[in-house]
Amino acid sequence: MDTKDAIAARRSIRSFKPDPVERRVVEELLELAVQAPSAKNDQPWRFVVTERQSKERLVETLQQALEEVESQGQSTGSMRGSLQAMAEAPLVILVFNRMSRRHLPQPYQYVKLLVDTQSLGAVIQTFLLAAQDMGLGTLWICDVLFGTGPVQEFAGCTDELVAAIALGVPAESPQKRPRLAWQELTAWME
Ligand SMILES: Cc1cc2nc3c(=O)[nH]c(=O)nc-3n(C[C@H](O)[C@H](O)[C@H](O)COP(=O)(O)O)c2cc1C
Repeated sequence: MDTKDAIAARRSIRSFKPDPVERRVVEELLELAVQAPSAKNDQPWRFVVTERQSKERLVETLQQALEEVESQGQSTGSMRGSLQAMAEAPLVILVFNRMSRRHLPQPYQYVKLLVDTQSLGAVIQTFLLAAQDMGLGTLWICDVLFGTGPVQEFAGCTDELVAAIALGVPAESPQKRPRLAWQELTAWME
C-alpha cells in the first residue's frame, strides 16, 4: 500500500477479531514507528506491549480506575468504549514519555512537554500508518490517562503515560469521519 492510500484508508477501529497478531509483526511495526522524527532526535518514547493475560490485567486495572473515577462523580467520557475496544484487541501497546524534562527549570519544562508531546504524536501516528499498511486496525487511546497511576504501577514504570494503542485485525470498516476543510483552517501568506 502506498503512503497516500494508508493515510486515506486509516480509521479508528473499535471492534477487533480475536485473531492473534504475531510477535514479529509487532516488532516490525515498532521498528517502523521509531523511524519517526523527534526533537533533537531525543526519542522520548517508551513502549510496553501487553497481550493475553497481561492485557487482561491491564483492562482490569483500567476498569477499576474507571469505577473509582465514576464513584467520585466525575465524567469518564468515552473510557467505557475505549475499554471495550482494548478488551477485544489482541494487543494493547502502552506509550510512555521518558520524562527527561523532570530536572529542567521552568519555563523549559513546559517547552519540553510541548516538544516531547509532538515527538510522541509522531511515533504513534507512524505506528498507526504502518499497521494500516499491513492490513491491521488500530485505536489511539488517551482515555487510559484516567488511570495513569494504576497503569504505571501495572507496568512497573515511573515514566509518564501518554497513550495506548489497541492493535488487531479489524472486525469493522467504519465510514470516514468528517474533517474540517483545510482551506477554512489555513491562512496562506504570500
Ligand atoms: C490524541 C488522541 C487521543 C484519542 N483518544 C481516544 C480514546 O481514548 N478513545 C477512543 O475511542 N478514540 C480516541 N481517539 C480516536 C479519535 O476519536 C479519532 O481519531 C477521531 O474521532 C477521528 O476518527 P478517525 O481516526 O477514524 O479518523 C484518539 C485520537 C487521538 C489523536
